Amino acid sequence: MILISSGPTREPLDPVRFLTNASSGAMGFALAAAAKASGARVVVVSGPTHRTPPAGVAVVRVTTALEMRREVLRRVARAHAVIGAAAVTDWRAPRVAAHKIKRYPASLRLTLVPNPDIIKDAAARRRPGQVFVGFALETRRAATLDYARAKLVGKGLDLVVANGSDALASDRIRATLVGRGWTRRLPSQPKSRVARIVVAEVVRLLA
Ligand code: C5P
Repeated sequence: MILISSGPTREPLDPVRFLTNASSGAMGFALAAAAKASGARVVVVSGPTHRTPPAGVAVVRVTTALEMRREVLRRVARAHAVIGAAAVTDWRAPRVAAHKIKRYPASLRLTLVPNPDIIKDAAARRRPGQVFVGFALETRRAATLDYARAKLVGKGLDLVVANGSDALASDRIRATLVGRGWTRRLPSQPKSRVARIVVAEVVRLLA
C-alpha cells in the first residue's frame, strides 16, 4: 500500500475563519494516480480541495493538521511507502474561538502554536523496507537544495522532491529529486509526469 498525504490543511481561528495556504492538492492526486497505475493499493489522506481524486484510490478527507496526522499515523504500519505531499499549515490557534471574533478597529494579536511534523513522525515509526518521501517547497531558490538535504536527514526520509512556489498555482512543476547521496534535476513538466518519475523512484527504493 502506498500512503500519500495531499493538499493543504485548514486551521480554524473561529467558526468562520481559518489559516491555510495555496496548495491545490494536484500533486498529491497526480502521485496517487501514478502509484495506482504502478499496481499499488493507494490511500490518500487529503486536506480540503476541490480537485477530483483519481479513480480507484481510497481518499480519507481531513481538515486540520492534527486530523491529518492521526489518519496518516494510524496507517503507517501497513504502508510500504509514505509520500508526504501535503502542504501542512505550520501553525494553528491553540484554542478556536467559540464565536466569530468581532471586528474592532485595532490590531488583532494572534498566538499560534506549531503543528506537528507529520512526515517526520511517520518516518520515526519506520519499519524495515519502508520508504518515506517528502516534498520541500522553498521560495529561496539558491538555498532550496540545501534545505532539501537538511529535510532528507532531519526528517529521516529516503527521498525529497524539492520545488519552488511556482508549482503551487500550476499543473506544471520544476523539481529536483534529492536522495541519499544523489540529486537529479528534472525539467519543468506536468505534475503527472513528475509523479510518475517519483513513483518509479519509490518502486526502485522498495526493490
Ligand atoms: O519542513 P517543510 O514543511 O518544508 O517540509 C515539507 C515536507 O514535510 C513535506 O513533505 C510535507 O508534507 C511535510 N510536512 C509534514 N508536516 C508538517 C510540515 C511538513 O508532514 N507539519
